[in-house]
Amino acid sequence: MSGHEVELDGGERATFRPVGPLRGSLTPPADKSISHRAAIIGAIADGPTRVTNFLDSDDTRSTLSAVAGLGAMVNPEPLNAMPEEFMIEGVGPTGPRSLGRIDVGNAGTLMRLLPGWLAGCDGGLWRMNGDASIRKRPVDRIATPLREMGAEIEVTDGRFPPIRIDGHQLKGITYELPVASAQVKSCILLAGLNAEGPTTVIEPVATRDHTEVMLAAAGADIERQSGRVTIRPGAKLELDEVEVPADISSAAFFLVAATIVPGSELVIERCGVNPTRTGIIDILRRMGADIELEPQAGAEGEPIARITVRSAPLTGTRIEGAEIPLAIDELPVIALAACFAEGETVIADAEELKAKESDRIAVVVGALAGFGANIEARDDGMRIIGTGGLKGGKVDSHGDHRIAMLGAVAGIASREGVTVDGMDAAAVSYPTFQQDLARLQG
Ligand code: S3P
Repeated sequence: MSGHEVELDGGERATFRPVGPLRGSLTPPADKSISHRAAIIGAIADGPTRVTNFLDSDDTRSTLSAVAGLGAMVNPEPLNAMPEEFMIEGVGPTGPRSLGRIDVGNAGTLMRLLPGWLAGCDGGLWRMNGDASIRKRPVDRIATPLREMGAEIEVTDGRFPPIRIDGHQLKGITYELPVASAQVKSCILLAGLNAEGPTTVIEPVATRDHTEVMLAAAGADIERQSGRVTIRPGAKLELDEVEVPADISSAAFFLVAATIVPGSELVIERCGVNPTRTGIIDILRRMGADIELEPQAGAEGEPIARITVRSAPLTGTRIEGAEIPLAIDELPVIALAACFAEGETVIADAEELKAKESDRIAVVVGALAGFGANIEARDDGMRIIGTGGLKGGKVDSHGDHRIAMLGAVAGIASREGVTVDGMDAAAVSYPTFQQDLARLQG
């Protein structure tokens, strides 16, 4: 019996109806953040890197084709499906081809990380652009520190892509991030690889550290103390091997689905549980969720675990401060969980949600209110009064993968179902999401 009914209209509209419990096990797709970094740092390295379990999604394909265009050889080339593993032959820190135009598609991480590398490659010239959503996502946050390092970068209307990068010799700086952003931190660290002297990034609160972990594994001269990272140029970069763990941000939809659909029990295999990414587990547990972690063997620096989640009643909570970056991409689906909880949930200090693939304060509040939630938007987040469930309704994904999947999970847990317009956006990070959801519904 399939409780999951999908009505496809040109591949874009899907209806998710209430179902019985979710049961079984899944390995979510590979981590998007780590896949972007494997392609970029693999391309910067002085030699070959073997990459296994690279994410096959729209965003990460954009990154692979960008680095291939810069001269990094990817073998075998991903054609229809991503190979199980491939080799990427780096061009070395100063070796990218000056190829002109780079299309980042919808990939914000590519748009913000790659300029760090290119800006310090003397004599090169590049233009980077992407889709309509990318052209609304700020890049002044990387242009400002890169210019301080001596970079020549032009952005559009002072803030947005397209951007033009004229490569120059850079100098190291000490930069205190005005907003907690792993993308900005990573951009500056990559620029530091080619700068004269040390480059230090100071973080107001900890953000995901995959770039630091991977650069250290590659042999970069990188030093980490609490709240600050320093990189020095000149070390030979050899990455050798990267195995990408499953993405906790994709698993998040199933963590919440199994928690709020009564009688569910799911096992999530080989999931990345880097402590800078596990905010959702701490938050859901604080709300009463039944989640168990069992460490599994994996690569050094990026811990992985088997996660078992069973349905449980939830109570509201307050999410703010240092916890926000540790759960930044999961806040939309946590807001959904809060609708099923008893009492008040407040998400504060999360203005950054406005600068994601959509304005995730306005879009999440609009979507959940449309499903019957008692929810209000705030300038830095939202307030939700849990009503123990949702009626259901309709939502437009706004081209945002996480909103599409939020709508699907809301639909199966709701009383009347949810129709998602623009469900195809899920392919940005989780192309097989609908199949996995249908399978786990038996
Ligand atoms: C990412 C960092 C986060 C996150 C994004 C991926 C990364 O963005 O929201 O989906 O891979 O570094 P910010 O660094 O802008 O917060």
